[in-house]
Amino acid sequence: MQITFSKAAPPKSGAIVVPVFEDDDSALAALDAAAEGALGRAAAAANFKGKKDQALDILTPRGLDNSRVILVGAGKSKEFGLLDAESVGGLAVARLMATREKSAAFALADAKAGKVSAEDLAARMAYGALLRSYRFDKYRTKLEADQKPALAKIAVHTGSTKAKTAFEELEKIADGVFFTRDLVTEPPNVIFPASFATQCKKLESLGVKVTVLGVKEMAKLGMGSLLGVGQGSAKESKLVSMEWLGGKKGDAPAAFVGKGVTFDTGGISLKAGEGMWDMKWDMGGAGAVTGAMMALAGRKAKANVVGVIGLVENMPDGNAQRPSDVVKSMSGQTIEVLNTDAEGRLVLADAIWWTQVTHKPKAIVDLATLTGAIIISLGHEYAGMFTKDDKLANELSKAAEATGDKLWRMPLAKAHDDMIKSDIADMKNITGVKDAGSSTAAAFIGRFVKDGQSWAHLDIAGMAWTTKDLPVIPKGATGFGVRLLDQWVRANYEG
Ligand code: BES
Ligand code: MN
Ligand code: ZN
Repeated sequence: MQITFSKAAPPKSGAIVVPVFEDDDSALAALDAAAEGALGRAAAAANFKGKKDQALDILTPRGLDNSRVILVGAGKSKEFGLLDAESVGGLAVARLMATREKSAAFALADAKAGKVSAEDLAARMAYGALLRSYRFDKYRTKLEADQKPALAKIAVHTGSTKAKTAFEELEKIADGVFFTRDLVTEPPNVIFPASFATQCKKLESLGVKVTVLGVKEMAKLGMGSLLGVGQGSAKESKLVSMEWLGGKKGDAPAAFVGKGVTFDTGGISLKAGEGMWDMKWDMGGAGAVTGAMMALAGRKAKANVVGVIGLVENMPDGNAQRPSDVVKSMSGQTIEVLNTDAEGRLVLADAIWWTQVTHKPKAIVDLATLTGAIIISLGHEYAGMFTKDDKLANELSKAAEATGDKLWRMPLAKAHDDMIKSDIADMKNITGVKDAGSSTAAAFIGRFVKDGQSWAHLDIAGMAWTTKDLPVIPKGATGFGVRLLDQWVRANYEG
């Protein structure tokens, strides 16, 4: 999607989009005057009141040569925020993509609302439109010309001269979100540990230092926990480290660690066939980390950040690990693997330990599609946040609120840790009971976090994929976490 900004009046032909507030329809007034009141009458006839999520497509209004005017409800102007502006842009583009319009104009003039300036309204509407316009058509070979979306251009007509610059930075974050969505959407015969690592190498062109460890290197480091998960797969396990050093030389970095199970069959503790296809996105945490690194490097963030992802495929096989195997992690701690389907925590254990030893980070945020239990707890509204660090929790909550990548803090207590004591090793990878499945998984990971290390775990199992369209996310891979991590770095690491 090509998005441009212009101070000129919107064109007299083609499609026009106008945001309308419940209590302020001034953006519409000039256009409606030219239309001799036809737009107002159409709105009244359709009971369009400018409420959130309302939209009205008015075809060839009298007095105008435009093909259509799309009114998009923006709600009450006093309650209007940046994320609402994005939703308006997203909704508009969804409407436009259902038409054969090749281009469209957002008619904003000097429109602003509540705390949202004219600059932000224009930039954020454009950002929302861009995020919602994402498609993944790579494997559709039979799309007819008229089944492909026609919309290729949006011109944002705004009086603000600063909107374009504001948008250019947001566009870099969208690049990261799209990269994540692509990685997560790709099928597991295309994205597996080695090919994922190759994708990460793309970030080198943005100035990111990318290091890839294979099985040999990881075995030497003693990563028996991560390697055990991948040993039933014909695909070699990998660990990728991506470093962006945009901050002060020598400053300890912020670290992201992602679960990258490129396909999770459950291993010998095999999952049921129905729905197993969803486990292609069991690398959503690694995808988010990779996209976030692209966003940060793309916008040249003034911060030192490292992203580490543990890439494995969890398969049943003659060489696969067995329920009751005992493995030794890089930390030296031993783990009784009672369920090979509780594999994400085994991957994170070594990835997090390696991150601490190698990069000595100021704080670690790990992201993982870790438990089905978090979907029972929080559905698809919030990712679960587990941390004992109130300051970090507060920082992440703020970033969540600012970006719409929502978080809900969940408990992480000694009682949960007590539940993973093993009879034969230092710990076991499941409790054996259904209670508090997400908290006990978090407690497991916590055993691989050094004393005094600031750390939060985000369980994004309910958030990496959506089965329905959302305002700025078409159904499919969401890119959850990219905006969150970018914002967290921006607010806390960029001076
Ligand atoms: N990848 C799954 C968790 C998951 C489930 C993510 C549904 C997204 C949607 C994870 O590896 C897993 O299998 N977890 C088990 C843990 C159990 C064996 C303790 C689960 O949640 O059932
Ligand atoms: Mn699993
Ligand atoms: Zn998994």
